[in-house]
Amino acid sequence: MSDEAARSQDSETVAAVVVAAGKGLRVGGDLPKQYRRVGGRAVLTRTLAALAQSPRIARIQPVIAPDAQDFYRECLADLEPAHRAKLAEPVPGGATRQQSVAAGLEGLARDGSPDLVLVHDAARPFVDDALIARAVAAGSRHGAAVPGIAVSDTIKLVEDIAPGIGRVHETPARENLRAVQTPQSFRFGLLLDAHRRAVAEGRDGFTDDGALAEWAGQPVVVFDGDARNRKITQAADLIEADRAFSGRAFSD
Ligand code: CTP
Ligand code: MG
Repeated sequence: MSDEAARSQDSETVAAVVVAAGKGLRVGGDLPKQYRRVGGRAVLTRTLAALAQSPRIARIQPVIAPDAQDFYRECLADLEPAHRAKLAEPVPGGATRQQSVAAGLEGLARDGSPDLVLVHDAARPFVDDALIARAVAAGSRHGAAVPGIAVSDTIKLVEDIAPGIGRVHETPARENLRAVQTPQSFRFGLLLDAHRRAVAEGRDGFTDDGALAEWAGQPVVVFDGDARNRKITQAADLIEADRAFSGRAFSD
């Protein structure tokens, strides 16, 4: 990056929306996965700490389920004061991830609108500084940028025709496919406008903001994600994350 590009990037304000309002149905259990402990700390605590320790991120807007206030307060108690100071009051999420992101963006808009926003899943506690730096750089430069990793399996496009059976329609060339993660990075105004338009037009159910930005006609780029930045999705992911974080200092 040129010195000039680095300077303009440094002067931009960056906030993050952390969506934590899901139910974690695939992991199962009584407590949603973001409040389960891995290596002694809640998944959400680890995710918030990982973002808050980045000097690039000035503000974090958590989005939580309306009935999860008590669990959330317990997460806060485990955070360093300097990290806690970056957190906005949580806003209530919606029935879909898209609605939860929109609630977080509206929260930031009331709070003074950053230049750039990173949208991140609470269920991805392995996000690190290098990935955050790539997200900020790509979002700042391209306006809409998502982290992706090459896929090692061959992917088929199918249509379900019976339980457990799908008819193959197409096998896309693997070298052109990326598995997409978060944090996804956008010019704040661009993403807020796209979300407001989706609400106005009754569009819901986009599973990531990259897809919503595409729908709104914005060019989206993919930058290098990180294979370690897994999303806790199934019960086995929680067990694996617990193993990975055990014996690891809190904000490493
Ligand atoms: N999320 C959210 N609001 C929703 C749905 C999801 O804030 N209505 C958040 C989740 O808390 C999670 C992230 O979006 O951090 C990614 O979603 P996913 O992994 O699907 O989590 P859940 O929806 O909670 O899990 P499941 O789909 O298994 O129920
Ligand atoms: Mg879900």
